[in-house]
Amino acid sequence: MSESRKILVTSALPYANGSIHLGHMLEYIQTDIWVRFQKLRGNQCIYVCADDAHGSAIMLRAERENITPQQLIDAVRAEHMADFADFLVEFDNYYSTHSEENRALASLIYTKLRDAGHIATRAITQYFDPDKQMFLADRFIKGTCPKCGTADQYGDNCEKCGATYDPTDLIDPKSAISGATPVLKESQHFFFKLPEFDAMLKTWTRSGALQESVANKIAEWLDAGLQEWDISRDAPYFGFEIPDAPGKYFYVWLDAPIGYMASFQNLITNQPELGLEFEAFWGKDSTAELYHFIGKDIVNFHALFWPAMLEGAGYRKPTALNVHGYLTVNGQKMSKSRGTFVKARTYLDHFSPEYLRYYYAAKLGRGVDDLDLNLEDFIQKVNSDLVGKVVNIASRCAGFIHKGNDGLLIDANPAPELWESFQRASPSIADAYENRDFARAMREIMALADQANAWIAEKAPWALAKQEGKQDEVQAVCALGINLFRQLVIFLKPVLPNLATAAERFLNVTPLRWEDLLTPLANHRLNPFTPLMTRIEASKIETMIEASKEDLAAASTTEPQHSNNGELTKEPVAETIDFETFSAVDLRIARIVKAEAVAGADKLLQLTLDIGDELRNVFSGIKSAYDPASLEGRLTLYVANLAPRKMRFGVSEGMVLAAGPGGQEIYLLSPDSGAIPGQRVK
Ligand code: MSP
Ligand code: ZN
Repeated sequence: MSESRKILVTSALPYANGSIHLGHMLEYIQTDIWVRFQKLRGNQCIYVCADDAHGSAIMLRAERENITPQQLIDAVRAEHMADFADFLVEFDNYYSTHSEENRALASLIYTKLRDAGHIATRAITQYFDPDKQMFLADRFIKGTCPKCGTADQYGDNCEKCGATYDPTDLIDPKSAISGATPVLKESQHFFFKLPEFDAMLKTWTRSGALQESVANKIAEWLDAGLQEWDISRDAPYFGFEIPDAPGKYFYVWLDAPIGYMASFQNLITNQPELGLEFEAFWGKDSTAELYHFIGKDIVNFHALFWPAMLEGAGYRKPTALNVHGYLTVNGQKMSKSRGTFVKARTYLDHFSPEYLRYYYAAKLGRGVDDLDLNLEDFIQKVNSDLVGKVVNIASRCAGFIHKGNDGLLIDANPAPELWESFQRASPSIADAYENRDFARAMREIMALADQANAWIAEKAPWALAKQEGKQDEVQAVCALGINLFRQLVIFLKPVLPNLATAAERFLNVTPLRWEDLLTPLANHRLNPFTPLMTRIEASKIETMIEASKEDLAAASTTEPQHSNNGELTKEPVAETIDFETFSAVDLRIARIVKAEAVAGADKLLQLTLDIGDELRNVFSGIKSAYDPASLEGRLTLYVANLAPRKMRFGVSEGMVLAAGPGGQEIYLLSPDSGAIPGQRVK
């Protein structure tokens, strides 16, 4: 094998603001497979990541939950780390951007940029919330569209007519946080002079560092002309204060990518025995390779700002960005109401992580196309490929070796051409992994599994075993069968590390490496065979979807979303509807006659509603905010004609109305006393 490469790999740093879901997992699984492949090949490959802990969204959420930002980000980081570990994503280090290493590096890089003349300062005028005493990002301002007059539009664009404008153009602006009328206020901001890097970026983005479609997208931005980038935010903000600028903070996206470096620095400190040096990976003259795996939504930060920052501060630039597309489920955007917005943990409660790792691998190419998780195809593929093809080879052969030869695998190769075709496939499979064409790698591996199964079926050791004098042939066939299985396990090890460990135990070998492909087992004692993987039960899919709907019910109050500028956004106001559509909603007064916890559901209460002439059963995700006893007798509003929904615990007939951010802050809507159950709300 050629000399070992030095490689540093990152995945994007997830916001410390919410749970990891199956969309995120696409990225972490893709990266982990690539990293494990490099390690299996004997390369030095370091994989670092961290939580992205800064920004106003995190500050405001901590405030709402009455905890400090530190408490929030610690809790979320612990949750994220457990999710990743259980999906077998093996980071060499998982850190936080709110760390001393990151503070030091962000300050250093900023200072270098400033001293080299790459920072400008100037005053800008922005809306300021006089109640909250804070400047308002565009997404926090609402008002009437200056173009078409539609009310309730966000500060930068109109959802009705599509116009884009400055928040100061809005008619009758209001703070989306407090409702106060914002005032214009001037403040000093710091800008990174991105246009100075135009020539470098034009070259770098065409140097092979980007997939072609990504480079084309970036070229559009470059042709449109680069703008200076506002890298400061005023207090209050959760982040790092800018050196020598009290009350000014780095914008979250300034220190987020520096978090890659900080996590690496932290690894150096924590594991000195690895002998890693910062300069060797990040210095201008580094010969190490550096790859960032990211989703297509954050390409501008990684292909423009980040390389320019690195260049301006005297560091090396990434070898390449590996950009992937978005996950869809059953052909559509992940949806909370359809139950296809599945959290990592909810999946893990129902299925082995390796099923999803394999499915993603089987569908991941090197492009930026979206990837569909089709749940039926998922069951079918895992059952037929992994259980039906791969594991099947071992289970067909192991018994004969144990029964017929006391577990001793003999030295035999009764089908040299078959063995040869496995040998010949190996460079091509390695090349597919290297180029992130995992779909091709999986196809080629499964084609080999098909060949092996066909050959075993033809030799039919189970029939031979019943014949006189065929014992040697049975042993020869099964010895090759087990060796072919071992080859497949090596090929699949980056994707299925647990299967590999179980197989290594059965094969009675030390951890398999890629180079072991060359040397078959011979005259070797096997351990007893135990089932290596079981089939997916189709019914569990439904259970997982139901559990995801329960997650939704629990968070169904207007939980704030964040967009990728790191700012908090509220749910967009829906399109206007006519009166008829509104009247189609049958809203009624209801009295809660009974409220009780639901066994097996952490977030739900089961409510019995008196709606005048009948009782209705409703599940509602308000348990964290209300003691059930306190609800009995209370009046509320009820959507009477919502289609009934089958949940794990029973059928929910309609829903009650509540508002608030979630957690303990959920507010059940109630009419004034005197309203009568069954009355229609108009
Ligand atoms: N905090 C920023 C990244 C900073 S990197 C210096 C961020 N965080 S995120 O939590 O929103 O997303 C983390 C990664 O997950 C991103 O690369 C994003 O593209 C990816 N994905 C999030 N949702 C996804 C899907 N539905 N599908 C595929 N990838 C998705 O962005
Ligand atoms: Zn408009």
